[in-house]
Amino acid sequence: METDVLVIGGGAAGLMCALTAGRRGRRVRVLEHANRCGKKILMSGGGRCNFTNTGTTPANFLSANPHFCKSALARYRPEHFIAMVEAHGIAYHEKELGQLFCDDSSKQIVAMLLAECADAGVQVDTSCSIEAVEALPGGGYQLRTTRGTMRAPSLVVATGGLSIPAMGATGFGYELARQFGHAVLPTRAGLVPLTLSGKHQEHYADLAGVAFHVSARCGKARFDNAMLITHRGLSGPAILQISNYWEPGKELLLDLLPELDIEAFLLERQRAQPAAELRTVLADVLPRRFAERLCETWFPSKPMRQFTHRQLPDLARQLAHWPIVASGTEGYRTAEVTLGGVDTDGVSSASMESKHCPGLYFVGEVLDVTGWLGGYNFQWAWASGHAAGSAA
Ligand code: FDA
Repeated sequence: METDVLVIGGGAAGLMCALTAGRRGRRVRVLEHANRCGKKILMSGGGRCNFTNTGTTPANFLSANPHFCKSALARYRPEHFIAMVEAHGIAYHEKELGQLFCDDSSKQIVAMLLAECADAGVQVDTSCSIEAVEALPGGGYQLRTTRGTMRAPSLVVATGGLSIPAMGATGFGYELARQFGHAVLPTRAGLVPLTLSGKHQEHYADLAGVAFHVSARCGKARFDNAMLITHRGLSGPAILQISNYWEPGKELLLDLLPELDIEAFLLERQRAQPAAELRTVLADVLPRRFAERLCETWFPSKPMRQFTHRQLPDLARQLAHWPIVASGTEGYRTAEVTLGGVDTDGVSSASMESKHCPGLYFVGEVLDVTGWLGGYNFQWAWASGHAAGSAA
């Protein structure tokens, strides 16, 4: 066979896997069905690619097996990727919370990965569709593609998740996993805006564009960050983060004033400004339009002196436990990631190799490992790609 490693998918994990294997002297070929590699990298981080998070730990990932990601993440850490970025002279900065972004453009990250691949002798074929995959009787895999038939002892599935189909996302990796006897856990859109319907949507819709800091909670998960009201529901980092944990039927609560002792604040204002209306008091700590909507719809505004000593603590409690009745999510069309995927039970956490099909590897988002918002998903793509590239 003239190729050692065939990689299906030229995204973040596939390119990292290819360049790592290529550097080891393996003859590697990447097969990408889109007309260019790394389209998701290009659109990531608002065009500046949040390429890693310096605070990455296994606790930042969701998976049916929370231990699975540990080995790969420990062996390929953010500083390893940062070293590559620096070696290519790419300027970057920390935005917040350990999130590293390019100063200029995500294009630099794709160019860097492709340059590293070229340097390692990797052949990259774009606009190449895979028609069939089969295991060869003597070991290895045969692919029928629009560029001809190819064979290799190692096959790496790096086809990503289902989010943003317009960018080339397919369920191909899941189908391939099933074909080779792997279980695929149910998938759903993650890091995605939530939708509201009926009166819940009516209450907020004309506030579209209003943003403020909240604490979003679902079960044990809690994220303090900005929330944005949209025409169809809620978005912003706090909502995208909590969307990974929310499913229809699960309770979702917002603390609308997470940085404030709300009860103490309301009692103090009652003492200091007894004639002030509740809506005016709330507008000091919340966006004015949102404070007015609260008072039009939920808490009739009146002068602070008219609230009893029972009512203000009750009001404070409601503001800290504001229920959101989401009707769903915006789905894969806008989701940044796909939750679920190839069950990690069937895959080695050290090498990403299938436990029952020698030479078959799964890397990146196609696996049931999903990170928080903030550079964690790319760090998983680099780490899992590196693990497979070191073994394949
Ligand atoms: P990825 O999707 O990158 O690559 C899969 C590749 O396989 C694609 O090139 C695809 O075309 C190809 N492919 C699919 N099916 C195929 C087939 N049948 N044959 C051949 N090729 C096939 N994460 C982060 O850490 N920081 C960030 O800033 C962002 N920002 C961001 C913005 C937006 C809008 C999105 C949608 C996502 C992000 N992400 C992110 C998430 C991040 O992009 C994602 O987790 C990684 O790209 C996953 O890397 P993979 O290589 O696994 O899949």
